[in-house]
Amino acid sequence: MRRPGPRLRKVLATAAVAGIAVFGAIQLVPYGRDHTNPPVLAEPEWDSPATANLADRACFDCHSNETRWPWYSNVAPVSWLVYRDVIQGREELNFSEMGREDNKVDKAAETVEDEEMPPFRYEINHPEARLDDAERAALIRGLEQTLGTRD
Ligand code: HEC
Repeated sequence: MRRPGPRLRKVLATAAVAGIAVFGAIQLVPYGRDHTNPPVLAEPEWDSPATANLADRACFDCHSNETRWPWYSNVAPVSWLVYRDVIQGREELNFSEMGREDNKVDKAAETVEDEEMPPFRYEINHPEARLDDAERAALIRGLEQTLGTRD
């Protein structure tokens, strides 16, 4: 194979420098940098410590005020995706704000049963959130017992 000529090499070098500059510039975007965890107001009365533990492993990062923010949540553009997940997740269902009016607690068991939650994209980087069949069944039952029946 021919080695790239000086012209092509120059184009590649320029592209690399531009890429690094863009990466650097997007780090300055303020969106997604706020990683404060609001206070825990009211937690569920878990039916067992095992259910609490499973929910903590599989749900709490996005559905509680006790998010463990990973290091890459500081690096754009991944930080934007993580931030969006947490903000949207808390809005839908927040285990730290039980009793809040629009808290979708009654849907929790259903989303686990349908394997919608936890999202697959999250499981890739969070092996502790991957539930085997027994754990999934235990979490569904535990959520039903803790939060009431599904609609
Ligand atoms: C990576 C973050 C993340 C994790 C972890 C996660 N969720 Fe979610 N969840 C979301 C986001 C974002 C939404 C809103 C968008 C959507 O519905 O996909 C959501 C929506 C929901 C909803 C509302 C769905 C509806 O139909 O209205 C429920 C209920 C829910 N999640 C339960 C859970 C449970 C239970 C777990 C743990 C087994 C869990 N989630 C884990 C991010 C997450």
